[in-house]
Amino acid sequence: MTNIGVFDSGLGGLTVLQKLIKTNKANYYYFGDSLRAPYGNRDKDELIKFAEEIVDFLQDFDIDYYIIACNTLSVLASKHLSEKYKKKFYPITDAGIEAGKSFDGDYLVLGTKATINSHYYKNNIRNNSKVYEVAGIKLVDYIEDGMIHGYELDKALGEYLEIANKQKIENIILACTHYPIITDAIKKNLTYKANIIDPADYLKLDLPENEDSSVNIFMSKIDPSTEKIIKNLIDCDYNLEEKEL
Ligand code: DGL
Repeated sequence: MTNIGVFDSGLGGLTVLQKLIKTNKANYYYFGDSLRAPYGNRDKDELIKFAEEIVDFLQDFDIDYYIIACNTLSVLASKHLSEKYKKKFYPITDAGIEAGKSFDGDYLVLGTKATINSHYYKNNIRNNSKVYEVAGIKLVDYIEDGMIHGYELDKALGEYLEIANKQKIENIILACTHYPIITDAIKKNLTYKANIIDPADYLKLDLPENEDSSVNIFMSKIDPSTEKIIKNLIDCDYNLEEKEL
């Protein structure tokens, strides 16, 4: 049986896990570091340390492959992790760049401060498109707190999507795995119909096929709103455990 480790700063990577479960049968071990989220405002050295702590925890489950279900860690830590642990790490940003080569028109990359400051997407998306970049600074905090609709969220999204509404940018890449959780709110705050891209739909994995699946979710902090979001996202049996690193 194949053991797959999936990780993120918190709830976001569950949007990736949700899609993985539907396409590949395996034993999944998810770690979401909700206690220390958001990651997107932290510096590279600290994030590498957090990523190592997560992988050190997950590797006890005899993990065969890792999915870095976090754009911020993909950009800042994936090279380090592959070199240190000598395992296959699939960064979600590979899927995002794949998506960024697939559509005509301009792109808005909406991501965390760290992802946007790296310009990783802008530097790798098809070069005949104009690429706008916006950091959705408050969004991860809101999502982790269960604020997935409402006045405050709309106000923040109104600001972050202003350039998209002004320029009618054709494609919007959700370059933070938390953002698919608020797709409805994003649509509501757009004044036109954009192609909203979730990189998880473009993941290309070369994984063995298994007969069955199991899903084990570890979060460093669990509260009722966390549990509700997990329940809405993961549509199968799963074990959920609070685990502080
Ligand atoms: N969901 C993560 C990402 O894709 C990290 C968000 C955060 O903790 O700031 O970038």
